[in-house]
Amino acid sequence: MAEKTFYDEIVECLNIQRKQLSGVTISEEVLKEFFRDMPRQQTARRQETVQPIPPAISAPAVHQQTTQYQTPPPAVHIPPQQEICGASPDEISRMNWDELAAAVAACRNCQLCESRLNTVFEDGSRTARLLFFGEGPGADEDAQGVPFVGRAGELLTKMINAMQFSREEVYICNTVKCRPPNNRNPEPAETEACRAYALRQIELVKPEVIVVLGAVPLHFLFPRVYGGIKKLRGNWLDYNGIKVMPTYHPAYLLRDPKAKGEAWKDLQQVMAVFGKKHTPEKRA
Ligand code: URA
Repeated sequence: MAEKTFYDEIVECLNIQRKQLSGVTISEEVLKEFFRDMPRQQTARRQETVQPIPPAISAPAVHQQTTQYQTPPPAVHIPPQQEICGASPDEISRMNWDELAAAVAACRNCQLCESRLNTVFEDGSRTARLLFFGEGPGADEDAQGVPFVGRAGELLTKMINAMQFSREEVYICNTVKCRPPNNRNPEPAETEACRAYALRQIELVKPEVIVVLGAVPLHFLFPRVYGGIKKLRGNWLDYNGIKVMPTYHPAYLLRDPKAKGEAWKDLQQVMAVFGKKHTPEKRA
């Protein structure tokens, strides 16, 4: 049987909602906006199949899904006490927020500092329960000094809203704090130069859940985990006791909107951890 898409799920929800008419928690407008550019063909096909009433969407218990992977060692190794802009990783691991933000702003530890306009440290709440971990700043983020403010950022905000969170409630940061030129992926030496900053951010926020957006932040946190984002998305991982859900990067979803259905399934698993559930609005 073909895998269910977001539209299958919406159809299911609409059917369930017609029967039950209760528990309305999210605006369909938000979801429509998030899924606006799903291919028309798929939408049309799905509209023909509004009859069956399958069970409601439910995310399986988190710990049952935790996945363990064994794999080759990381390609890049950084000596544990290597100096980063006058501070060792050990010193960075003891910094408070002000010290950490200042260290990042002054960092010249890799070549990315040469071409940056701004360092891009964070957005959202430092006491968030949910953290979104991206790859690295693009041109808009470099210009504004804030993560995820360009097109991919707009989609990320819609994803966050569809999960019934506001952008201000969650914490957002990246593996690297300076823009890789021409939006290329950060090189291993660049992510390693930023590693201690990102790990300290995660440690200070202490979120309950991290959503990793794409392969770069996934392999940054789990260098020994084998497999790409297509294989690993939707599977819970554990990072020092924090639940981690890998899903597609919003920039990938902009390039391949068909993948949004899978991303939405991943995000619904995260919502379930926070007792949130998508229920479509009552129809007039
Ligand atoms: N992509 C990312 O991974 N991070 C950003 O901040 C913006 C785009």
